[in-house]
Amino acid sequence: MARITASVYTSHVPAIGAALDLGKTQEPYWQPVFQGYEFGKQWMKDNKPDVIFLVYNDHATAFSLEMIPTFAIGTAAEFQPADEGWGPRPVPKVIGHPDLASHIAQSVIQQDFDLTIVNKMDVDHGLTVPLSLMCGQPEAWPCPVIPFAVNVVQYPVPSGRRCYNLGQAIRKAVESFDEDLNVHIWGTGGMSHQLQGPRAGLINKDFDNAFLDKLINDPEAAASIPHIDYVREAGSEGIELVMWLIARGAMADVAGGAKPKVVQRFYHVPASNTAVGHLILENS
Ligand code: DHB
Ligand code: FE
Repeated sequence: MARITASVYTSHVPAIGAALDLGKTQEPYWQPVFQGYEFGKQWMKDNKPDVIFLVYNDHATAFSLEMIPTFAIGTAAEFQPADEGWGPRPVPKVIGHPDLASHIAQSVIQQDFDLTIVNKMDVDHGLTVPLSLMCGQPEAWPCPVIPFAVNVVQYPVPSGRRCYNLGQAIRKAVESFDEDLNVHIWGTGGMSHQLQGPRAGLINKDFDNAFLDKLINDPEAAASIPHIDYVREAGSEGIELVMWLIARGAMADVAGGAKPKVVQRFYHVPASNTAVGHLILENS
């Protein structure tokens, strides 16, 4: 059967993708950001998954005000990097895993979460920047990726609690897939940032570090953070952090297993106008 062996959490700031694509990773501004992912890149090589279930949000790229799915699972065989206004990023296309994605859709919908099934979708920086941070600049991504898009852009957005519960359902779905697959689940976005209005530029290191602590040690408490606290404390775009709770909810301890091992924790300010956070948790 398939198993979730680890979860990865990371910000997905588009400027990080641009810095990488333009060869600026060793510039003084960017060097500390990329340094924080050196461990993760090696870890990916040493712990290569068969499939990545990648939770991210679309930034009005594939979706728009015309159609706003709360939770959308990509079931296609492949997904192209999106043109976000300056051409698609020069990164590999994303190969999907239609069999596992369809199985997860079946199982999670039967567990009463209403997913939108997406058979054609370009993927934006929310998905490609985490892959770049964790995999560098390969000819092809190391394994198939199932894109899972969450609406955190247009209100109403799902609560952290609902995301956490959804993660638990995804874990059950993966474990009922009848093939031995090593699956990693990634939660992306955040950390604190606000891109608009009078508070544009807001960063809250205390909130971010407390969130990392809670996510690791007391995910139940992290799941209880009300939506308004993210917005007030972490900025209007800090709400992206609810996506980390989907990945955390899929870890073994939430279903009565052992606590995960923290193998990497990194936090850095600034990257563009965003605080960058990154965690890797392994199921033992
Ligand atoms: C920016 C955009 C994002 O989607 C994000 O998560 C962080 C920063 C930006 O435009 O700077
Ligand atoms: Fe974002």
